[in-house]
Amino acid sequence: MKNYLSLASGVFVIAVAGPLSHGISAQAGPALRTAGQQAAPAPQQAGTPAQQQNANVPAGNAANGRKLFTSFGCYQCHNYEAQGGSAGPRLAPRPIAYAQFMKYVRHPTNEMPPFTEKTVKDAELTDIYAFLRAQPAPPDLDKIPLLK
Ligand code: HEC
Repeated sequence: MKNYLSLASGVFVIAVAGPLSHGISAQAGPALRTAGQQAAPAPQQAGTPAQQQNANVPAGNAANGRKLFTSFGCYQCHNYEAQGGSAGPRLAPRPIAYAQFMKYVRHPTNEMPPFTEKTVKDAELTDIYAFLRAQPAPPDLDKIPLLK
């Protein structure tokens, strides 16, 4: 039930916050990696450096990754679908490159708490990464009737 509610509110956030984050990314340009990934339309993402680097990512188990994303508490800030929440940015479906991801979670640079190898094993992080990549993309803004 909790999950369902969160999912529903996530859809709401995407629909309402969409144009806003789009505007931010347009202003911030490519320097702000996270904002760019959130708002850029899918076709422009096709050949990003992150995706090229992701060519050799270990497969991982996305279903297990979803469970771990909840059990390790990532959802508390990034939300159940990794769509972003009040305390953390959107991570899915186009997370930062795999190598960066593995480093970042161990040594975050700002407000995120670090997760060491003792807490989250590399294989578990790989599963979480697979979950992030497998998440469906939010709908294009011009496909949302209310925004027309
Ligand atoms: C207490 C809140 C919190 C929790 C719990 C949390 N994060 Fe974060 N995360 C953040 C915030 C805030 C940022 C934005 C940068 C920063 O402050 O470090 C972030 C950034 C990230 C980034 C970098 C995103 C980017 O595009 O640069 C990744 C990857 C990430 N988190 C993954 C995870 C994973 C995986 C977990 C669970 C193992 C997790 N986070 C748990 C708050 C959190």
